[in-house]
Amino acid sequence: MSLTTWQHKDLLDVSDLSTEEILYLLDSAKNFHEINQRPVKKVPTLKGKTVVLFFSEPSTRTKLSFDTAGKRLSADTFALGKSGSSLQKGESLKDTALTLQAMNPDIIVIRDSSSGAASFLAERLNCSVVNGGDGWHAHPTQALLDAYSLRDAWDGKFEGKTLLILGDISHSRVARSNVNLLTRLGVKVRVCAPRTLLPRYLDDWDIEIYNDLHKATRDVDAVMCLRLQLERQAAGLLPNLGDYATRYCLTQKALSFAKPNAKILHPGPMNRGLEIASDVADSNDSLVLNQVSAGVATRMAVLYLYGTRNDTSTVE
Ligand code: CP
Repeated sequence: MSLTTWQHKDLLDVSDLSTEEILYLLDSAKNFHEINQRPVKKVPTLKGKTVVLFFSEPSTRTKLSFDTAGKRLSADTFALGKSGSSLQKGESLKDTALTLQAMNPDIIVIRDSSSGAASFLAERLNCSVVNGGDGWHAHPTQALLDAYSLRDAWDGKFEGKTLLILGDISHSRVARSNVNLLTRLGVKVRVCAPRTLLPRYLDDWDIEIYNDLHKATRDVDAVMCLRLQLERQAAGLLPNLGDYATRYCLTQKALSFAKPNAKILHPGPMNRGLEIASDVADSNDSLVLNQVSAGVATRMAVLYLYGTRNDTSTVE
């Protein structure tokens, strides 16, 4: 596939992209991954472009990898968080974003606790808006980097593979974006969680649903653990954390039902001993740190495609 122009102004969720565009983006990320292995990791592709990282919610991986990605492409990157900005004085999301736009950036990457925050800004701003995670809604670049990591581990194949997504499906933007993307690429997706952490609209998803971890892991090719958001216990959705860990922590025992060398993913940050056992997180089959490296390459591909969409030069 060769694109003369990238058709999209914004990246709000993976559902914005065709399957062909997703595969094109993953191929671009592979090229950027090779650049990231060089002694000098900087290319001039986005010289003169400005990328703003507008993160009103905490982040380590997404924020740092977008920042690294922008810098490796020679873009100027600037970060704005809740702490130290006028958001703390009560300035609205809209006014903050309009203020940023007046400085004429090319891309704003936004993370916010409100579902729909990215699309709210995209409707109002002329620059590209990339969703770095909005509430429970979507985390498109996480799903793209997860697909990249799995494709690498599975020698380029998605068809015929089975992935289990384990944990708090109900409140997870990572689960939502991954189910959408991976089922379209031919992966059979299972989810496993207590009933209180499964969303009500699961009928819309082409997945298998489990409540029993040992049944759920049977013959899977990979397991993606999700972070248990500890505030769910206060909301009465969990009996207690010890009971949750006994039933849903991914241990070597639970993994023994999966295919040999089944891969382990976690978007981070991990609660070791709660949703994932430490020896599983650190095992040879763990892709957790591969996901972080893939995050830089994938976000380089995203910044490249969205940052050059108005340029007259050819995108290949
Ligand atoms: N996976 C992820 O979004 O991690 P951060 O919250 O650290 O960005």
